[in-house]
Amino acid sequence: MQDVVQAYYGKELQSTADLKTSACCDADAVPDWLKPLLARVHPEVSSRYYGCGLVCPPLLEGCRVLDLGSGSGRDVYLLSQLVGASGEVVGVDMTPEQLAVAREYLPFHAEQFGYANVRFLEGQIERLEQLDLEPGSFDVIVSNCVLNLSTDKPAVLRGIQRLLKPGGEFYFSDVYVDRRLPEAVQSHPVLYGECLGGALYWNDFLRMARGAAFTDPRLVSDRPLEITEPQLASLVGEARFYSATYRLFNIPELEDACEDHGQAVIYRGSIDQAPTHLAFDKHHSIEAGKVFPVCGNTYRMLHQTRFAPHFQFIGDFERHYGLFEGCGSAIPFDQDRAASGAAASCC
Ligand SMILES: C[S@@+](CC[C@H](N)C(=O)[O-])C[C@H]1O[C@@H](n2cnc3c(N)ncnc32)[C@H](O)[C@@H]1O
Repeated sequence: MQDVVQAYYGKELQSTADLKTSACCDADAVPDWLKPLLARVHPEVSSRYYGCGLVCPPLLEGCRVLDLGSGSGRDVYLLSQLVGASGEVVGVDMTPEQLAVAREYLPFHAEQFGYANVRFLEGQIERLEQLDLEPGSFDVIVSNCVLNLSTDKPAVLRGIQRLLKPGGEFYFSDVYVDRRLPEAVQSHPVLYGECLGGALYWNDFLRMARGAAFTDPRLVSDRPLEITEPQLASLVGEARFYSATYRLFNIPELEDACEDHGQAVIYRGSIDQAPTHLAFDKHHSIEAGKVFPVCGNTYRMLHQTRFAPHFQFIGDFERHYGLFEGCGSAIPFDQDRAASGAAASCC
């Protein structure tokens, strides 16, 4: 399948217009604050953008960022502006034609931005240990519509885990499906190349992430994908595809459920793009200045990461009050003695 992918992105596709579905194309989703930065990226680089989401989380200034499957480099050059002169962005891709476009415009962007903080490496994202990258050295790892193309997704997650700093995060967009796909769909070359055939059933992805020690994956945003090409649509049948952005934090203490320790945070409103509220994930829109109760995991994701200076923290882990309301699964036991038929006291 890697040969199929290399041929698809190296030879078959010349620009976004050649795509046969909307899976690897998210042209409308650029927010206003990012548009001036995107305008400074060379048109040739942007014309070969095949991403499915936005991989520009807040608070990147000075960060070391790694982009897995960086393609022609659109996101790398966007991130280059966000990390600034004191940060660094490294792109990794296995397709020489994509890397050639990305590298051709290194001098152009260095001149545009006034600094050179980008490099591109040729390699497979399943074998990140073969690249000269120091373990535990990246603040943020991003990826845009690539994990689905990998034939060994657990190896990619293990490599990411190894390269992230403690408290670092993997912030990435990818394609998911609402069921496990039949073999014929998985191995169809066009469906695979278009980021559909290799898409994970969403619940299998969550299991895989937890298995790689990313214990509490947080969904940031999602949108349904349309397959307009009739032949491809009939091949996938009733399966429904989605593009989704997740953030996975490298915090070993995270638990597999949201536990209530009576904690809360107050957002200072100090992040440039989020003066009134911070949309941390799809379920946490944190209003500035307001006491916001959080579970132990969310507390840690804010306290042990680059978000910490932007919050005031209330409480600790001394006491436990059960599952955090509205999170995780409810207590499975009958709550009413009469309903459960339990005797008043027996062992
Ligand atoms: C859908 S494109 C996305 C490119 C880029 N992220 C963007 O948003 O334009 C997928 C890219 O991932 C690269 N890729 C796919 N599988 C890979 C692997 N196993 N190792 C390294 N690169 C890979 C392809 O060469 C291609 O450039």
